[in-house]
Amino acid sequence: MPWLSIINAAIFGWLCAGIALRKRHGLHAAMMTLGFGFDLALLVYVEFSSKAIEQTVAKPPGVVLVIHVLLATIMLVLYPFVIYSGGKVLAGGNVRKHKRLAMPFMLARLLVVITAWMVAR
Ligand code: HEM
Repeated sequence: MPWLSIINAAIFGWLCAGIALRKRHGLHAAMMTLGFGFDLALLVYVEFSSKAIEQTVAKPPGVVLVIHVLLATIMLVLYPFVIYSGGKVLAGGNVRKHKRLAMPFMLARLLVVITAWMVAR
C-alpha cells in the first residue's frame, strides 16, 4: 500500500509547513490541529482497511512493524499535549515547554514515516 505511505509522508510535510509558519500564530495553530485530524483519519482508515488487517493477520509482525506501531502510539499520545501546550503559548505562556514537547513529537512523526515505508515494501 505505498499510497498510504505517501499520504502519511504528505501529512508530515503539512506539519513541517505548519512549523515553518509558526510566526503566524493563528495559521500555525489551525494547520497543526488540522494535521492531528488528518492523522486520526488516516489511522482510522488503516485500522479498518481490510489490507492492513490482512497484512498483520497473515504473518507474524516483524520487528519494524512493532517499532512502527510503538512510534505511532507515542506520537498519538504526544499530540494532545503538544496542541494543549501550544494553546497555552497562544494565551501568553512560555514557548519553552511547547518546544520541548514538539521536538520529540516531530522526531516520532518522522520515524513513523520512515518505518511506514519499510513496512509497506
Ligand atoms: C502537533 C502540534 C504542534 C507542533 C508540532 C508545534 C510545534 C511548534 C514549534 C516547533 C514551535 C517553535 C518553538 C520555538 O522555536 O521556540 C512552535 C511555536 C508556537 N506554537 Fe506550535 N506546534 C503545534 C501546535 C500548536 C497549536 C495547536 C498552537 C495554538 C493553539 C500552537 C501555538 C504556537 C505558538 C503561539 C508558537 C510561538 C510562535 C512564535 O515563535 O512566535 N502550536 N510550535
